[in-house]
Amino acid sequence: MDRALVLGGTGFVGRELAEYLRCPTASLSGGGGSIAVDARHLADLRTKVGQLAPQTLVNCVGLADVDLAERDPELADSLNRRVVDNLVRIQPEMGFRLIHISTDYVFDGQRGGYQETDPPNPINEYGRSKLRGEEVALGSNGSLVVRISSPYGRGFGVRKPQFFRYVTEALRSGKAVKALTDQRVTATFLPDLASAIETLSQRSVAGLVHVASAEAMTRFEFARQIARVVGADPELVTPGLRSDMKQWMAPRPADTSLNIELSEGHGVSYTPVETALRSLLTVGPERKAGG
Ligand SMILES: NC(=O)c1ccc[n+]([C@@H]2O[C@H](COP(=O)([O-])OP(=O)(O)OC[C@H]3O[C@@H](n4cnc5c(N)ncnc54)[C@H](OP(=O)(O)O)[C@@H]3O)[C@@H](O)[C@H]2O)c1
Repeated sequence: MDRALVLGGTGFVGRELAEYLRCPTASLSGGGGSIAVDARHLADLRTKVGQLAPQTLVNCVGLADVDLAERDPELADSLNRRVVDNLVRIQPEMGFRLIHISTDYVFDGQRGGYQETDPPNPINEYGRSKLRGEEVALGSNGSLVVRISSPYGRGFGVRKPQFFRYVTEALRSGKAVKALTDQRVTATFLPDLASAIETLSQRSVAGLVHVASAEAMTRFEFARQIARVVGADPELVTPGLRSDMKQWMAPRPADTSLNIELSEGHGVSYTPVETALRSLLTVGPERKAGG
């Protein structure tokens, strides 16, 4: 993609996107060769983005820790809404196209199969702060908001346990894992997200678009599929419920599966989950962030 910049490019989603899009990154720490910037501060953001002069800015900055967002709504607001507000302020003078990453957690999860036109109704602080960020981004001319769902990929920028990696490692060492039967998502394969961003950019698509998967699954079904691909006994995956997760501060929605027909209509295509898992499981160990 021509002159793209991934803001938040040291994180789980951003690092992987930057690898696929082959573009520079900026982040709070400035780790792994990214440019250091505190995107909460307008002047710092203006200076750093001005130096890089991107044509497209993909915003992957966010507080994605759902329980931390519940404990610290101010932090969630500053990263999930104020950063977007700052980007929208500098966008007219810098002239970049804003692509902002959002989440299926803007929905209450009572129904699933959500389209872009369905009314959001978040049930936790994370979802509420992300919804405010979406509203700010959509107020800016030509910007694109991409909602993703339970992303999985190589895990270059992972700093906290990631479901796909945790399940794979446990099953490979013969350990049992509990996975939820009452939480259903359409997990976004990160290489699909990267190619979707390229496709949607080339076509100058603006507004709100879901980029997820054609296959809605519970965490339990996803973990059983990993077991089959890894060649482990699927019975090692045992059923659990959200109510078992006593350490969770924030409520989780039951079914936030996303309808992807709008993106498909724009030419976005999706890798079948089994193919995606096979590709991840045959590429060898994940690289560490900054490595
Ligand atoms: N992970 C998920 O399950 C998930 C699901 C749906 C949607 N999303 C969305 O995807 C986006 C990325 O999530 P993620 O999981 O990749 O998060 P992450 O791994 O925690 O990465 C966050 C990124 O934001 C950067 N950052 C934090 N504060 C910053 C600041 N003040 N200024 C500049 N950069 C800052 C971090 O930089 P440093 O590394 O330098 O601290 C890091 O690069 C979020 O908007 C999230 O809502 C995530």
